[in-house]
Amino acid sequence: MTTTTPAAPARPGAGAVLPPLRIGPITVDTPVVLAPMAGVTNAAFRRLCRESGAGLYVAEMVTSRALVERSPESFRIISFEPDEVPRSVQVYGVDPATVAAAVRMLVEEDLADHVDLNFGCPVPKVTRRGGGAVLPWKRDLFSAIVRAAVDAASPAGVPVTVKMRKGIDEDHLTYVEAGLTAQDAGVAAVSLHGRTAADYYSGTADWDAIATLKAAVTDIPVLGNGDIWSAEDALAMVAHTSCDGVVVGRGCQGRPWLFADLAAAFAGSDERIRPRLGEVAHVVRRHAELMVEHFGDEGKALREMRKHMAWYLKGYVVGGEARAGLGLVTSMADLDDKLAALDLDQPYPGEAAEGQRGRAGSPKRPILPYGWLDSRELSEHFRRDLHEAELSVSGG
Ligand SMILES: Cc1cc2nc3c(=O)[nH]c(=O)nc-3n(C[C@H](O)[C@H](O)[C@H](O)COP(=O)(O)O)c2cc1C
Repeated sequence: MTTTTPAAPARPGAGAVLPPLRIGPITVDTPVVLAPMAGVTNAAFRRLCRESGAGLYVAEMVTSRALVERSPESFRIISFEPDEVPRSVQVYGVDPATVAAAVRMLVEEDLADHVDLNFGCPVPKVTRRGGGAVLPWKRDLFSAIVRAAVDAASPAGVPVTVKMRKGIDEDHLTYVEAGLTAQDAGVAAVSLHGRTAADYYSGTADWDAIATLKAAVTDIPVLGNGDIWSAEDALAMVAHTSCDGVVVGRGCQGRPWLFADLAAAFAGSDERIRPRLGEVAHVVRRHAELMVEHFGDEGKALREMRKHMAWYLKGYVVGGEARAGLGLVTSMADLDDKLAALDLDQPYPGEAAEGQRGRAGSPKRPILPYGWLDSRELSEHFRRDLHEAELSVSGG
């Protein structure tokens, strides 16, 4: 069943709602994880989130091949500020040997403290080759990739985690089996986005599936992901699923201060951040500054900032022209002018600023390699094509 109205959270009263999250040797006091989001969770955005709250902040996904080939973009993706601890890298790969080589490189060169493996990508150009969210259907391949990563990381004591979706569609669910396989392979935690590849980003995330996974996978933490838009949603997910921590994606787009709300909520406090537009403008400017530092190129940084504007301004009264102008911002000076022209004294607009943001859309039937569903094992025929499932992904 898909959860539309999660159970009311148990009011925490004083003290913490959950114990610290333990991911191998890493202790995360507030059991909150920033979901990896390509094009969003770079070092600049993570810094804003880190300043606001506490948790584990995962970088944008990087492909194992790009890492092994040492592409400049892959090194941008895995760049961390000196004070960022732990350094959490998400790797996507479809070939056990390449994933092993990439993870070995990360740990031997001391480039990461935590490696998350991505099995959640629903985009057709990936699934049509058997990659992303449809890969765990081939249980031998899934197991081999996870084991290869754990074997490569464990000599350095670096924990490996797995992030996945429920499966291909409701008739081809893989998450419980994949969670148990990952646990057996020695991963330190699993997180589940409560949607199938077919769901894409549509509808509401199935929190019952997270509860099912939590009941099945008993030796390692199970993290819940999907549709946490507020601290109250995070508490509700924990109450509904008994998960050990929450993974927050779109809800913090344009709201990095959500991590302060989450830290408060998990500490049993009702305090929430309700910024005036002027405070939002201040965060936008700081985000842009950090982006310029991160990319080392003002034009590129400001182009990257454009998509964030609608998220930051959601719910505030800002005219169409001003919005459009901020969506086309070209330089820091231009940004300053456009922000200064807003009605900065405007108070927090309440509900209008909250709720769903970012990717949504309708279900899509996943495009699979011909005959993919016929067997749960990988045949030579599919193996040959599989590397293209990685080459077609922009992740470094
Ligand atoms: C713009 C965008 C980029 C994403 N990139 C990744 C990614 O690189 N790796 C990954 O595992 N998931 C990625 N996701 C999925 C999120 O990590 C998360 O699982 C999903 O958005 C559901 O969580 P939410 O409802 O909190 O957003 C992405 C999602 C969005 C919206």
